[in-house]
Amino acid sequence: MGSIKTRMTEILGIEYPIMCGGMQNAANPELAVAISEAGGLGITNISMYPDFDDFRKALKWMRAQTDKPLAVNISMIPNVDMGDKITKYINICGEEGINVIETSGKDPVDIVPLIHSFGMKVIHKVPMAKHALKAQKSGVDLVTVVGSEAAGHPSPDLIGTFVVANKAVELCDIPVLVGGGVCNGRSLASALAMGAEGVVIGTRFLTASECSISNNHKQWIVEHTEKDTILCQKAIRNMIRTAHNQAADECLEMEKKPGVTLQDLMPIIAGAVGKEAYASGDTSKGMFAVGQDIGLIDDVKPAAEIIKEMVEEACASIDRLSNIVK
Ligand SMILES: Cc1cc2nc3c(=O)[nH]c(=O)nc-3n(C[C@H](O)[C@H](O)[C@H](O)COP(=O)(O)O)c2cc1C
Repeated sequence: MGSIKTRMTEILGIEYPIMCGGMQNAANPELAVAISEAGGLGITNISMYPDFDDFRKALKWMRAQTDKPLAVNISMIPNVDMGDKITKYINICGEEGINVIETSGKDPVDIVPLIHSFGMKVIHKVPMAKHALKAQKSGVDLVTVVGSEAAGHPSPDLIGTFVVANKAVELCDIPVLVGGGVCNGRSLASALAMGAEGVVIGTRFLTASECSISNNHKQWIVEHTEKDTILCQKAIRNMIRTAHNQAADECLEMEKKPGVTLQDLMPIIAGAVGKEAYASGDTSKGMFAVGQDIGLIDDVKPAAEIIKEMVEEACASIDRLSNIVK
């Protein structure tokens, strides 16, 4: 397999410039370990654990499985003060030998010094290039920009990956990672060609064999196309790109109610509902975040194979390009 070395691989000590994005209820420890063992950066997500003890247990298990770098996602909810909880999560990560914290949701300026005090790196994820520059000023080590194709929370203006990535690499000196529609080697090569130092992948890793979501959910991705995602939760200013399933239709219907609140939508959008759906295999229930790249994904396979295929295809794409430039 070819080798791809960038500032991302150098700073994080990983083999390939590929990381998994934090995924609520889906970035399980087994998937994280498989991705890190295969040379990428595997991740789990604080939101998946009912309490601090469970969280610590999961990190201990992950650390025992691999000595490769591992990451944890801390998604902060804008305008919500998570208080001492965040500090506690970071302390546990530091104590259990986690190497990287991915933050998202709001600027991590207040927590960067604590994360660095454990020798961990910070990667902050944003949907707009101007926020990437702000993150750089806040002292993060790398910044991820995700375009509107992505699963999860795009920018309210729906700026696509090509534009947001190009703009972020122009603005930032720190390494920029790109996410949103990146699911194969051609998109990895495109990200590198734009000046990015690596990629962040969510949806493609949902179809890794080691991902804990149900086989029904994986098959849903394989069988649907790029037209089958939809944007929900606009009415509560928390827009999310999700699978166009029955729950999404119900959510959009409720959003028509004037003055609808987060509380009104909770019976449909709560993380616990999504978690239960992943366990039962009922794809009609819960917000099932997926990106437009579902139209490019047609199989389920181990994470190591996904990464190998991606690197080989990226190398082939780059070879092809170097042959057409004289
Ligand atoms: C099921 C799922 C859940 C996600 N949950 C989170 C989350 O809790 N926090 C976060 O920062 N990003 C979350 N994301 C976004 C991913 O980390 C990543 O930015 C995105 O998936 C990249 O785009 P892609 O899906 O086209 O690869 C989630 C993505 C998926 C697919």
